[in-house]
Amino acid sequence: MAETFLIGALAPNDAAAVRRLAASLRRWFSPADLRAIDALLKENAVGWVAHDRAEDDKHKHMLVGFLLTAPTADPLVREVAWMGVDESWQGRGVGTALLDRAVASAAADGMRELEVSTVAASAGYAPYEATRAFYHARGFVDRRTDRDYYWPGGDRLLLRRIIAGDQMDAVVGHGDGTGLQGASHDGD
Ligand SMILES: CC(C)(COP(=O)(O)OP(=O)(O)OC[C@H]1O[C@@H](n2cnc3c(N)ncnc32)[C@H](O)[C@@H]1OP(=O)(O)O)[C@@H](O)C(=O)NCCC(=O)NCCS
Repeated sequence: MAETFLIGALAPNDAAAVRRLAASLRRWFSPADLRAIDALLKENAVGWVAHDRAEDDKHKHMLVGFLLTAPTADPLVREVAWMGVDESWQGRGVGTALLDRAVASAAADGMRELEVSTVAASAGYAPYEATRAFYHARGFVDRRTDRDYYWPGGDRLLLRRIIAGDQMDAVVGHGDGTGLQGASHDGD
């Protein structure tokens, strides 16, 4: 089955749609999170976006997912700062395709690891169960929990994924990651 979305590098004219999509994910992103996303967009963050492949007027190239990266204090570690997929598109491979592209780009830049923070299980907030399952299923390993990081009782889980050169060949093989391309995860 052909994929129904396209992955491309984040461009300045995606920013408004990224803000709108993030704002729609109310169960995951607080107003403070939205402000942080906005700030990163204004800094011309490196990131990736997924657009609906549909050509009809209503859906034409609608933004369905985003992933924004940020540097960390360690020059060999890049952070997946924010990612989100439209609720009606979740579970259809968009997040995986965005992450694959971020991994390929980090590998090409000589990074050793990708890092991500999310709400820990100990915070007892159900919407992030699927988020943690996503990161665990995609090679991230728990590294540290920071108590009360997001709110009182809202512990943060820090995860890392090692970038192995030999794992990258297949992903990099999809292209150089600089333009809109079809994502394919089911036939190759
Ligand atoms: C987390 C998120 C980015 C993943 O994107 P996605 O497009 O839904 O993910 P994919 O379809 O590529 O992958 C889904 C995978 O996640 C895991 N997963 C998702 N929901 C799950 C659930 N309820 N239980 C267990 N695993 C789940 C599975 O491993 C699944 O892989 P599989 O298809 O091989 O079974 C997306 O769901 C999202 O935007 N969530 C809300 C915002 C958010 O949490 N952002 C991250 C902030 S730290």
